[in-house]
Amino acid sequence: MVQSDAELRHHTVVVVDVLRATSTIIAALAAGAREVIPVDTVENAVKVAQRIGSDRALLCGERNSVRIEGFHLGNSPQEYTPEVVAGKTLILTTTNGTMALARTHAAGRVFCGSFLNAARLAEAIVGTSSETVTILCAGTHGRFSLDDVYAAGAIVSALLGKAGEATLLDGATAALHLFRTAADDMRGALAASAHGRTLIDLGFGSDLEYCARLDVEDAPVPVLDGSQIRPYIPGTDALLQR
Ligand code: MLT
Repeated sequence: MVQSDAELRHHTVVVVDVLRATSTIIAALAAGAREVIPVDTVENAVKVAQRIGSDRALLCGERNSVRIEGFHLGNSPQEYTPEVVAGKTLILTTTNGTMALARTHAAGRVFCGSFLNAARLAEAIVGTSSETVTILCAGTHGRFSLDDVYAAGAIVSALLGKAGEATLLDGATAALHLFRTAADDMRGALAASAHGRTLIDLGFGSDLEYCARLDVEDAPVPVLDGSQIRPYIPGTDALLQR
């Protein structure tokens, strides 16, 4: 459930689009991208890239999971290697993930989450804040997406592990239960989800394996800082309050 702007002001929001936008943002920052700028439309992405300049900007993203014509990269996290993205500013537009990020403008703090960074995300949140945490699942065209809910459950589990206790609303409890039932074979669970099946049909099956990995070493915690997403650095919290 999405809270009102007034409620979100006091929340830490974690945006989850595990297949694949938030996993891709984590992969990109891990590979040394300077920052990711999420934008809503293809036209705006091109404008932002032109402003930044072709020596520094890469156009990235998908529509209906397929790379946008003329863009440098699609939305497969495995494309985001240090050779390609290190030092670059990535202008990213995706069907659902970057749209979900755009809905967080009123939130106090916004992180990107996935299986890859669940434990480090929990550390960042619990170490610095006693605020309410809202996990915003991007979904698919406004519909419930099981893959995102599994990842939300992994994040709830990590938050509980770190905080010791927390009051969960029913959506968080349901996500936690679903995660626990699927955790032993998350790749298989993702493959059985509607979006997972679409990605397999499009030839992106190996992305499911990539995105299903829990707590990858040194996975960054992307934080939205103004219009840019950068890796969260502990101790910089005050600067990030929006
Ligand atoms: C999205 O933002 O809609 C997704 O990341 C789609 C995809 O898997 O490429």
